[in-house]
Amino acid sequence: MEPRIQEIFEEYHIRSEAEAKVLQNLVSLTPEEMHRRIDEFLICVGPATGSLINTIIKESKGRSILEVGTSYGYSTIWLAEAARETGGKVTTLEIHPGKIEFARKKVEKAGLGDYVDFRQGDALSIIPELSGNFDFVLLDLWKDLYVPCLNLIYPKLNPGALIVADNIIHPESARKDALEYQKNIRSRKDITSVLLPVGSGIELSRFC
Ligand SMILES: C[S@@+](CC[C@H](N)C(=O)[O-])C[C@H]1O[C@@H](n2cnc3c(N)ncnc32)[C@H](O)[C@@H]1O
Repeated sequence: MEPRIQEIFEEYHIRSEAEAKVLQNLVSLTPEEMHRRIDEFLICVGPATGSLINTIIKESKGRSILEVGTSYGYSTIWLAEAARETGGKVTTLEIHPGKIEFARKKVEKAGLGDYVDFRQGDALSIIPELSGNFDFVLLDLWKDLYVPCLNLIYPKLNPGALIVADNIIHPESARKDALEYQKNIRSRKDITSVLLPVGSGIELSRFC
């Protein structure tokens, strides 16, 4: 990994560690208050999942990459760095305008701007409009939207496409939706799927 990209990851990691402490102090918030404040926080996939998805894309030579849930761009940089090596491109979707602008600046600073197509809006509206099929998908938006997004992405998967869904094990608050997603994707006859205890727990699925 280039030093300038490593430096950017370091900035994210410092922010993430500081926010983890703040989040610990907020456990007493009601779900409504937490929902109201959630956009303040990075809540990224973290280095283990980031480096794993980067390696998987490079090894599988994935070129057409879709990210659902950009947030502040941490995972986007892992994806874009892989896309640069495979000659591919990342399309990334985020509903929050401020977050996607922050992500765009970080991706530019990392020298990866040519490898990312940023789309701001509701993923459920954008996915049906996307042209082309995908070799790799990272699902990491709010967890109740995993199954609706999967339903929209499913007809757009290339043979051999890989789908990674984050937060299958942690946090506890996402467990119900995560299990619903896991059950849904494992019920599909043309998909094989496995849970990996990496980061917050990822479901890695392959369409054939
Ligand atoms: C867990 S964060 C993504 C973290 C990011 N993948 C990373 O690792 O840096 C989830 C993001 O999904 C976004 N999101 C939630 N609902 C969405 C929707 N309907 N369409 C697009 N983005 C959405 C949220 O605004 C939030 O920024």
